[in-house]
Amino acid sequence: MIPAAKVSEIPNFGKKVIQISGQDILFINIKGSIFAAENECPHQGSPLTAAIVKDDYIACPRHGYRFSLVDGSCGEHPEFTLKTYPLQISGDDILIDLG
Ligand code: FES
Repeated sequence: MIPAAKVSEIPNFGKKVIQISGQDILFINIKGSIFAAENECPHQGSPLTAAIVKDDYIACPRHGYRFSLVDGSCGEHPEFTLKTYPLQISGDDILIDLG
């Protein structure tokens, strides 16, 4: 796990892209629960910075595929999986495991 960001810099119901080890990682805050995923849709590569976030999923702005923020799965199109990353929260620090 490596330090990635601060909880306080990810707005509630908001997103922030942070580059870590040369990768753009999208951080999402849903009511204080922080998730991290790659910032590129596995369907056709659209950036997810403009994606809609609701409950525990993120919907790609391009074709609307919805991906679970928990495991990256896509119920409607199971052949596509969004890469998500394990996190650990320590105080205000977000630690990430990029695998
Ligand atoms: S590029 Fe994301 S759903 Fe098509």
